[in-house]
Amino acid sequence: MAGRAVVMADDTLFLLLEGYGWLPALRRRAPGEVARTRLLGRRAVAICGPDAARFFYEDDGIRRGPAPPHLVRSTHFVRGTGQNLDGITREARRAMFLPVLHGDAAADLVSRAAAAWDEAVPRWGAEPSVVLFDRVAQVLATAAYGWAGLEPPEHETPKVAADLVAMAEGYATLGPRHWRARAARRRRAAALAHLVRRARAGVVAVRRGTAADAVIRHRDRDGALLNPRVAAFELLNVLRATVAVSWWVTFAAHALHRWPSHRGPLGDNDTGYIEAFVHELRRFYPFAPFFGGRAVRDLSFRGEPIPEGTLVLLDVFGQHHDPALWEEPYVFAPERFAGPRPGPYELIAQGGGDPALGHRCVGEAVTVELLKTLVPRLATLDYRVPGQDLSVSPWRIPARVASGFVMTDVRQAVPAPVPETVPDVRRARG
Ligand code: HEM
Repeated sequence: MAGRAVVMADDTLFLLLEGYGWLPALRRRAPGEVARTRLLGRRAVAICGPDAARFFYEDDGIRRGPAPPHLVRSTHFVRGTGQNLDGITREARRAMFLPVLHGDAAADLVSRAAAAWDEAVPRWGAEPSVVLFDRVAQVLATAAYGWAGLEPPEHETPKVAADLVAMAEGYATLGPRHWRARAARRRRAAALAHLVRRARAGVVAVRRGTAADAVIRHRDRDGALLNPRVAAFELLNVLRATVAVSWWVTFAAHALHRWPSHRGPLGDNDTGYIEAFVHELRRFYPFAPFFGGRAVRDLSFRGEPIPEGTLVLLDVFGQHHDPALWEEPYVFAPERFAGPRPGPYELIAQGGGDPALGHRCVGEAVTVELLKTLVPRLATLDYRVPGQDLSVSPWRIPARVASGFVMTDVRQAVPAPVPETVPDVRRARG
């Protein structure tokens, strides 16, 4: 009961103003391990730490909402059930995408990203300057569309990438960014829904075994094909998720600029170091501030009651910067991941638990492989970093390098490393 006395005013404004620091501050003020507040008018609690993550993911009394960064909150999802209005359940979605997110299919996405990067780099060198964030988004959009079985016309790629970025940007804000996200989503969904209709009518062919093919042919519990708009949103989710990896590639450039000593082992293709660097990127830099779920019955955590209907917030940023869990959490130190792989509830940038069973991102293994492929490429580039705003504001969600990381005089210093194959997603864990 201890936490009951804590702040009960609506904290929505503080979330918008304080960004990543909001939940950790709220938890510091709480007398117990469950901090209480209100968010968007609803009763909410904040919890943090591996035990809290286990509780959040393993207790069937908590239903996750569509809260991850790339799954935009929209009227197409019934909050708290993970089910959209046309009946595709979270389980069905995971089952639909799992086959295209492991083995050869996942390796295809990674090698397309490597090829798109290698093709783009000489062009970057020919320009007076480039904004890395935008260019990586284009590389990833090209790779994602090709992998998914879709081919955006070459000249459209910057627009498509910008729309996918706008969608990832707009998920946690109420202002103009949110409206840009909605407009971008409408545009892209309309184009994809059109494609779904044409593919079903046999007007265009979609490669078998791709994400587009899976979505176009998916049937719901009653054996009906997905409504074309729903199919389009499903496809958009994975395209947007892939493009969201640009955040971490740009953070990698930020880290390499701040702490250039990491370049050596990354460029030497030291696989252990590369993987550790990628984990540290996802721990150190702010991305998803928290994950949200709803208590579907009365629950208790560490003896503190959580009444039915309460919004349960798992503090991701707080957990990744908790000194009880990580030595000197505000130091960027890939070495901390040199030992055994982090446990299923420690590094939770893409959710916690087992990716095959629970609510962890089914695209996490491929995300790690994309980063393991692109980050060493970045580390072997020669470029200059002109004066610019390289700050990463903790008040902006999702955080990003303010300038987008401007580079000039870009050229490939040594041959880019060859990507490795992607492990089976069902065994791989962040
Ligand atoms: C920036 C990188 C990414 C982040 C932060 C992220 C985060 C997440 C999280 C937290 C979930 C769990 C949702 C739940 O609560 O059930 C999730 C699910 C999922 N992710 Fe990702 N993800 C990323 C990249 C990717 C990529 C690259 C792909 C595929 C190419 C992908 C595909 C999926 C799919 C298909 C699901 C299942 C959706 C569902 O359960 O409804 N993600 N992601």
